[in-house]
Amino acid sequence: MNSLNSSHILGISHLSPDEIEFILRTAESMREILDRPIKKVPPLRGKTVVHVFFEPSTRTRLSFELAAKRLSADTVGISASASSVEKGENLIDTARNIQAMRPDAIVMRHPFSGAPHLLARYLDTSIINAGDGMNEHPSQALLDLFTVREAKGSFKGLKVAIIGDIAHSRVAHSDIMAFTRMGAEVTVCGPATLLPPYLEDLGARVKFRLDDALDGADVVMALRIQKERQARGLLPSNREYSMTFGLNMERLSGIAPDAIIMHPGPINRGVEMAPEVADGPWSVILDQVTNGVAVRMAILSLLLA
Ligand code: CP
Repeated sequence: MNSLNSSHILGISHLSPDEIEFILRTAESMREILDRPIKKVPPLRGKTVVHVFFEPSTRTRLSFELAAKRLSADTVGISASASSVEKGENLIDTARNIQAMRPDAIVMRHPFSGAPHLLARYLDTSIINAGDGMNEHPSQALLDLFTVREAKGSFKGLKVAIIGDIAHSRVAHSDIMAFTRMGAEVTVCGPATLLPPYLEDLGARVKFRLDDALDGADVVMALRIQKERQARGLLPSNREYSMTFGLNMERLSGIAPDAIIMHPGPINRGVEMAPEVADGPWSVILDQVTNGVAVRMAILSLLLA
């Protein structure tokens, strides 16, 4: 394989295992660049990447911007609060006006599921989904795959446990598809109110008790409780959630000795994960962030170079 089938990255659901493998292998060569004293290479010189973020972001936005700059592309960005969306301009008009300035790619985060897919239908520019509502976060799933393979060597037969607010998590949806597609076994666990009925159709096993989900796990990923997307009444309190599903040293006694702990960020310390777990020897959470730059360099270079 020497190219992707689409000029967009909209979701893991659109990527074949061969395409995922191609992106991961490209990211391996990008990762090496990040350890050089001069972290800049020329393949995207003359290209322009626009970042349009209609929801807050630290990791995704900065790492896409850094990825573009490491590849010598020009970057500009705008957030909803600083754009003419505040004056009533709709999404398609906003996107058409951005396209009129001739960027080569638009990286977009939006609170509505399907917003990047809509742009891809209307525009000629490459669209990269940086998280759409509760639907998908494909670049996060790709960096999670990269980080797991870096730590574990391969995906075949690996037991991945994803814990928390699965219903509202675009990361969970993309990760379930990504890990099962690459040969891992995914188990999800959380409060029954946050486990939607379609998870088995996506390829995940569902467990309602944390100890059952953690038993023999090679990879444990905790997710943030997404209060901003939840209807009231889905959880009694953060304290009760933490007591039942929060990861602490005692609860992790059942996992494999060489297991790794992941979290896409941002972490609510003391809610989904105790500080000693987040900062402990099993944690690869900051490796996920570093690898995010390499994976996003791979995505940009495969779409634009
Ligand atoms: N993981 C993730 O999407 O983090 P940000 O919201 O900070 O981009």
